[in-house]
Amino acid sequence: MKKIGGSLFILLAVLCIFGCNKKENNNKTNSDTMENVQVSDYGVTAKGDSIKKYTLTNKNGMKVEIINYGGIITSLMAPDKNGKYQDVVLGFTKPEDYFNGNPYYFGALIGRYGNRIANAKFTLEGKTYDIDKNDGPNSLHGGKEGFHTKIWTAEPVKDAKLPTLKLTYVSADGEEGYPGKLTTTVHYTLTDDNALEISYEAETDKATVVNLTQHSYFNLSGNFSNLITDHELQINADKFLPVNSTLIPVGEEKSVKGTPFDFTAAKAIGKDITAQDEQLKLGGGYDHNWILNGNGMRTIATVYHPASGRVMEVMTDQPGVQFYSGNFLDGKFDTKTGGKYEKRSGFCLETQHYPDSPNQPAFPTTELKPGQKYQTKTMYKFSVKK
Ligand code: GLA
Repeated sequence: MKKIGGSLFILLAVLCIFGCNKKENNNKTNSDTMENVQVSDYGVTAKGDSIKKYTLTNKNGMKVEIINYGGIITSLMAPDKNGKYQDVVLGFTKPEDYFNGNPYYFGALIGRYGNRIANAKFTLEGKTYDIDKNDGPNSLHGGKEGFHTKIWTAEPVKDAKLPTLKLTYVSADGEEGYPGKLTTTVHYTLTDDNALEISYEAETDKATVVNLTQHSYFNLSGNFSNLITDHELQINADKFLPVNSTLIPVGEEKSVKGTPFDFTAAKAIGKDITAQDEQLKLGGGYDHNWILNGNGMRTIATVYHPASGRVMEVMTDQPGVQFYSGNFLDGKFDTKTGGKYEKRSGFCLETQHYPDSPNQPAFPTTELKPGQKYQTKTMYKFSVKK
């Protein structure tokens, strides 16, 4: 009896060692894939769709949260000069506010066409297309039901070395008035040097126009009651695009020299924002496209917040950036740190092709034809200056 008991004990012990090992291995595999991208429930839309939140974490502990509704970045934690992580992107406190229209396009992926198209129409290969008119006479950010309102198919990329989320959205031929079935893939990757990399790809089955961007609003202070006018901005651009009263570029490429639009050397965003200037009046502040110097992937802008020491560099391969100083934020929504989002409590640096390119042949083209691949990349890199 004793002997049988002893053997049983040994057998059980051996089984347990195997079992435990197996469990440990499983856990390891799980944590390898789970560790850097975690999935959780975020909310349910009015139509009953369950939305998930994906948290990307890098080896330094920096975290970015993204939802598969609109590909929206809902949170981005960046360290200050003392190593304190704080959220530096504007966002709503309630999921419904994203699902019910997201009036400011907080954190969203923008498509098919970031920025404005004049009179909500364009002609391509001899055919005129009427697209959704959602901004006075113009079409803004792909129309009312643009990509920022779509549910994207999301999957953490398992074999990627860095935390990566892949989002895919197939836009039907004719959606919001645009021709061609457009398949878009966006990869969000968080690198070990605290950069959020956004790679966009798109393919179409008919000639169309594409101009994708990301609409995060940043406030590097970590307190959304602080205005961004004290942030120091530098943009590598000698020229910008003056606009008309509906914020459509008039076609002229104007030198920034001697104007409030000169950010070639770093200066506080608030320094010239109230200057007597026709273009600032039209935009209600800065809401213009800068013509970026150089080509290919390059650093195009740097933002520094002196009090926190936070620095954000923007790298892109795009020809333009819309610098928007949060002029339309109007105190209607609660911030994540108390108080309301007021005018100038955030700024955007939306990398993109120029606004209204489909109607302005002198601008770099935004046309995409079947067989071609739209491919661009932008990075927002966070560091500190002490
Ligand atoms: C863009 C536009 C602005 C404004 C915001 C969203 O940046 O250029 O005019 O519409 O989006 O509020």
